[in-house]
Amino acid sequence: MAELNEKLSSVEHGFDIQLAEPKDFRAICELVSRAYQTPMIPGGFSNRADDTEEMLAREIAEGTKIFIVKKDGLIIGTQRYRLENDCCHLTRLAVAPEFRNQGIGRKLVEKVLIEGKNRGAKTAKLEVLEERGLVPYYESFGFQTTETKPHHKHTLVLMEKKLV
Ligand SMILES: CC(C)(COP(=O)(O)OP(=O)(O)OC[C@H]1O[C@@H](n2cnc3c(N)ncnc32)[C@H](O)[C@@H]1OP(=O)(O)O)[C@@H](O)C(=O)NCCC(=O)NCCS
Repeated sequence: MAELNEKLSSVEHGFDIQLAEPKDFRAICELVSRAYQTPMIPGGFSNRADDTEEMLAREIAEGTKIFIVKKDGLIIGTQRYRLENDCCHLTRLAVAPEFRNQGIGRKLVEKVLIEGKNRGAKTAKLEVLEERGLVPYYESFGFQTTETKPHHKHTLVLMEKKLV
């Protein structure tokens, strides 16, 4: 039943959030690549994220779930997560630059937190480069920094939120 529910698309606050299917992989790769090169804060840090359709297929085979937001048939937002033991790991949050600041990122994060909790996760974790300026954004969901460490020329921030 849970699997069935996951497969059913849901219309939430005007945005259609659903699980990605193989036919969506190419568009997801293009969206992530474009989104990561366009930072949330104009002029802020950005980097490349060059996923391939094969990488997405492998991640899904290994248990990752990929949520997408569609508008008029186009994928405009995405967020992945995987469960490991009792932890829900969030990865690859991305929203198309032209659809930002409408709460799509927030809806995707909230969706994953609810899904993770429903599937038994006790905590949610993510990693973000400090230079992205997104730590306050994730704090607004209740994530707290648990560790910071150097990552090449940057600082990697490990964040965690209790779900129970
Ligand atoms: C991060 C990202 C997914 C957010 O998507 P989004 O749909 O615009 O997010 P939301 O609409 O939910 O929220 C945007 C928030 O940023 C805030 N914001 C917007 N511009 C800002 C700025 N210049 N400075 C600070 N905050 C800003 C908004 O006020 C809003 O805050 P709120 O939720 O408290 O209202 C999107 O910017 C993105 O794809 N970035 C590039 C990829 C990336 O960095 N991914 C995360 C990797 S860990």
